[in-house]
Amino acid sequence: MKFAVLSLALCFLGVSSQQTCNHPPSTWCSSWEIAKECQVERQCLEFYTHRDLKKASEPAVQIELYYESLCGGCRGFLSSQLFPTWLMLNDIMNVTLVPYGNAQEKNISGKWSFECQHGQEECLGNMMEACLIHLLGDVYKYFPIIFCMEFSSNVTKSLEMCVGLHAPEIEDKTIWDCVNGDLGNKLMHENAQRTDGLNPPHQFVPWIVVNGKPLMNSNQAQSSLFNLICDMYYRPET
Ligand SMILES: *[C@@H]1O[C@H](CO)[C@@H](O)[C@H](O)[C@H]1NC(C)=O
Ligand SMILES: *[C@@H]1O[C@H](CO)[C@@H](O)[C@H](O)[C@H]1NC(C)=O
Ligand SMILES: *[C@@H]1O[C@H](CO)[C@@H](O)[C@H](O)[C@H]1NC(C)=O
Repeated sequence: MKFAVLSLALCFLGVSSQQTCNHPPSTWCSSWEIAKECQVERQCLEFYTHRDLKKASEPAVQIELYYESLCGGCRGFLSSQLFPTWLMLNDIMNVTLVPYGNAQEKNISGKWSFECQHGQEECLGNMMEACLIHLLGDVYKYFPIIFCMEFSSNVTKSLEMCVGLHAPEIEDKTIWDCVNGDLGNKLMHENAQRTDGLNPPHQFVPWIVVNGKPLMNSNQAQSSLFNLICDMYYRPET
């Protein structure tokens, strides 16, 4: 409950004005003086006008990210937009991560073999992340680890450090068994099918799908995913 209110306040007040006033966001609409000082008068009017009209529980905004572990644009989007936005708005958004991107798969005598745009190291990174998602199951557990890896200077090398930081209960061996075994192979094949089954097909990475529709102008999401999610949640088309 607390979190929903926080998101609502953050959304209406936006992040753009934060630097211009000395009041915490949660107090921005508490008085007209503060609203003026923080330059959010319009947002506060809107907030108070529409607050009671909003349904108590809008469905979460569904956001799917099709990406590959070593692509610079993917790493940038994941670490500077998606993860920070999710930290603030996770109660109104549902993130699905699909590591695979522009990889290709071949059936070699019944076992899937993968080729990745940035080479074998990228396939390894994709596999590590697919295994983390499956083994941990809980986005609150695996997303911080995947962020930690994508944000670090060496994605694959940072696996153990990032897991140690955020999910020390899982043993490295469990992850490596998945990465090198049939389970990882099966998970990556599922990601391949999910990616190759996109309609319309993905044209580039990162490929961002919001409530089932790709963001063709991915600049929009890349520059302010936060505002996009807020708009979709609090001002759904009628
Ligand atoms: C989040 O997305 C997953 C599929 O990726 C779905 O199974 C789940 O029901 C969704 N959760 C919410 C709260 O929308
Ligand atoms: C993969 O190839 C094997 C033979 O090499 C074949 O038996 C199997 O049906 C193929 N699987 C798919 C999904 O194409
Ligand atoms: C990352 O570290 C691994 C060793 O764990 C090394 O083989 C690889 O070349 C490094 N990758 C980059 C991009 O520096």
